[in-house]
Amino acid sequence: MKFLKKPFFLGSKELPSNIFCAPLAGCSDVPFRRMTSRYNPGLIYTEMVKMDALVRNDPHTFRMLDYELGMHPIGGQLCGSKPELAGACAKIIEDLGFDVVDLNCGCPVDKVTKDGSGSAMLKNPEKIGEILANMVAAVKIPVTVKIRAGWDSNSICSAEITRIAEQAGASAICIHGRTRAQAYKGPANWDYIAQAKQAAKKIQVIANGDIFDPHSAQGIFEASGCDAILLARGTMGQPWLIEDIYRFFEDGVVVKRTSLDYKKALLEHIAHIVSYQTDRKSLLDIRRVGCYYLKGGRGTKHLREAINRSASLEETYMHIQNFSWEEADFSPQTQSEVSEEVTC
Ligand SMILES: Cc1cc2nc3c(=O)[nH]c(=O)nc-3n(C[C@H](O)[C@H](O)[C@H](O)COP(=O)(O)O)c2cc1C
Repeated sequence: MKFLKKPFFLGSKELPSNIFCAPLAGCSDVPFRRMTSRYNPGLIYTEMVKMDALVRNDPHTFRMLDYELGMHPIGGQLCGSKPELAGACAKIIEDLGFDVVDLNCGCPVDKVTKDGSGSAMLKNPEKIGEILANMVAAVKIPVTVKIRAGWDSNSICSAEITRIAEQAGASAICIHGRTRAQAYKGPANWDYIAQAKQAAKKIQVIANGDIFDPHSAQGIFEASGCDAILLARGTMGQPWLIEDIYRFFEDGVVVKRTSLDYKKALLEHIAHIVSYQTDRKSLLDIRRVGCYYLKGGRGTKHLREAINRSASLEETYMHIQNFSWEEADFSPQTQSEVSEEVTC
């Protein structure tokens, strides 16, 4: 299939494919990445970390950058708006052994944009260029940048920032085809990604937004002409989405996942959480993760509620084991089903 590239090159870095997994704050932690990395994605990003916190050696921030050997190739994502910190922070990411370093210019939440970071950077394209140039000068690994299509529909800047990022020496730009004003309302506009691709000479364009199944993966390649794609909410509760897209592009096969596949994955994800987090944090994380796996299954509401009420791991396991998995209907998740869950 013409869209899938195995291997795929980002600068001189060879990656297994051009199907990537997104940075997801509060979600793409070690247990989550253990689940997705086994399907051999082209690249997997950790959740964003603040530049200010990195340079003051904040231990919590360094823990967010934990990874295991099986998670390579892996990218670290920086969030910040100070050009004077960008080079040093990119070097920290490189020295930690990351394969790629990314700059976040898409996060829409107020507490990030209020100091000019995240999607607020879209209002200051020159600064994006300055920060990227400082990152490129400081490291040998490829530098990427992830943006939303614009601050609002009157200020679409995907093409302009693509040119600026290319000029600054970035290897790739990822475009989420929504504006900051849009948050997650309405569909991603893949035309904004096509505009970026048309502006690109040598920078690679990574398309992102509303890829929930192999058909939408094909759709975004066709609509945008992109070089690679980035899966985000589609992998929450469907860690196998990468493999499903490979199978579809390679053999035309649409893999049907059963309710027992969901049960097995949920239990595995829980086991990874329990082995990585304290008991107290595990219970909280299991509630969140239980929701990802169960939200697309008809008849799972009571189990979700029971997991949320569980006061111990034993109780959580008991509810999962007692549930009538064979009777639950797990249809492919759709945008409307998952969009209510998002936080960033
Ligand atoms: C829970 C959550 C956390 C996110 N955290 C980040 C982040 O840390 N950095 C980032 O660049 N984008 C982040 N995003 C945005 C996603 O990477 C992606 O751009 C967005 O969800 C659109 O893709 P989708 O429609 O396929 O979900 C986050 C999205 C969600 C839902």
